[in-house]
Amino acid sequence: MFILATILVSFGFSLGVLAWPYSRALSGVSVGISLAMLAWVAWRQRTALPGVLGSTAVFCLLAALGWNLLLMPWANHEAPSQIELRNANGTAGAALIVYHPGRSELQTEAVNGFAEGLVAADWRVTLATANAAAPTDLAAYDLLVVGAQSYTWAPARPVQAYLRRVGNLGGKPVVAILSGLGETGPATTVMADLLTALNGNLLNIYHVWQIRPIDELYGTDDPRLAMRQTAVSLAAAWGK
Ligand SMILES: Cc1cc2nc3c(=O)[nH]c(=O)nc-3n(C[C@H](O)[C@H](O)[C@H](O)COP(=O)(O)O)c2cc1C
Repeated sequence: MFILATILVSFGFSLGVLAWPYSRALSGVSVGISLAMLAWVAWRQRTALPGVLGSTAVFCLLAALGWNLLLMPWANHEAPSQIELRNANGTAGAALIVYHPGRSELQTEAVNGFAEGLVAADWRVTLATANAAAPTDLAAYDLLVVGAQSYTWAPARPVQAYLRRVGNLGGKPVVAILSGLGETGPATTVMADLLTALNGNLLNIYHVWQIRPIDELYGTDDPRLAMRQTAVSLAAAWGK
């Protein structure tokens, strides 16, 4: 029972710390549950309290170290350079898509769908992974599309680093595609703030999720098809 209490208290405190920058309510509830659990341990068996507190501290420290030193660097590890030009003779417009492929297929599927939609509307599309080799001179492009996962409530670092390398976006129209398990809201704020700070003209931020249905947003649960249709609509409305 006290082992379970230790796990719950540790989980509650860890979530409380992780959620603090983005949701004070979630953070408060998590820490509140942890404190209630500790009070329950103190009430049931006061002598067990130091043990539970000690194990909680060790557990939280290990979780924080593992998350920040292993999991985040693993997820944010820059992909090798890959730059691909599609529909080189397209005349409707030119788009640069820069994305972090990540560890699953979701973001790759989403940006490929978006590229296919633009190509279907006769746009010339350059698709590049986010790293030092991705084009930073945007003069030749009408639209910049960035594709990033939400990692701990912020867009994937290689995409943020890419945008900072570009620097001033000079009013360039920008679309972002954020992928995640199901909660990309806080990353949306970070991305919107970054693009605004860099003087981008943010047209829209689209979301694709792994465990949360997206059909209410796009009428389909297939992220590739959803982004293809989205790009077709965007291209149809372009310049109107
Ligand atoms: C360290 C880490 C933090 C994550 N944080 C979030 C998050 O804040 N919100 C979310 O919806 N998904 C989060 N996820 C899930 C990923 O965003 C999701 O699995 C992603 O769409 C696919 O990532 P992948 O392509 O790198 O596998 C996180 C995943 C990892 C590994």
